[in-house]
Amino acid sequence: MDNELIRRQLSALLEKADAPVSALANASAFLFDAMRDVNWLGFYLLRGDTLILGPFQGKPACVSISVNAGVCGAAIRQNATLRVPDVHAFAGHIACDAASNSELVVPLIDGDGAPFGVLDVDSTLFGRFSEQDQALLEDCAAIVSARVAGSIRGLLG
Ligand code: SME
Repeated sequence: MDNELIRRQLSALLEKADAPVSALANASAFLFDAMRDVNWLGFYLLRGDTLILGPFQGKPACVSISVNAGVCGAAIRQNATLRVPDVHAFAGHIACDAASNSELVVPLIDGDGAPFGVLDVDSTLFGRFSEQDQALLEDCAAIVSARVAGSIRGLLG
């Protein structure tokens, strides 16, 4: 599926999801299916200074991650995308699935510019994610953020 089609189909899919949990669940299922050579794709949502596991596709994962830990925590602290070609070379990487070798983490950003979670994508391939993949997944994270930013807090318990 080409990248423009992925953007359009994700937008169309999310128009039908009027609850944030439905939007995140279908976004993870759609993107996991649309991307080649990905073994985990999902969302972590910020509660205080901890990222809580949200809807995802792949093996069961760490249920909470401190913002001071992992690639996900670093993406929140920097409020920036982290594209990691070799996770074993990233100090503090958290190996939820030992098979993962590269990772891309994109912050979910609210209307005020503050991060409220991340989209996390893992691959068993080294260097799986290109600049084009990064641009695509940043657009996808922005589409998801616009849909759920206003209603996400109620999901976190
Ligand atoms: N590798 C991540 C942890 C989450 S799992 O990849 C699903 C990290 O270092 O933050």
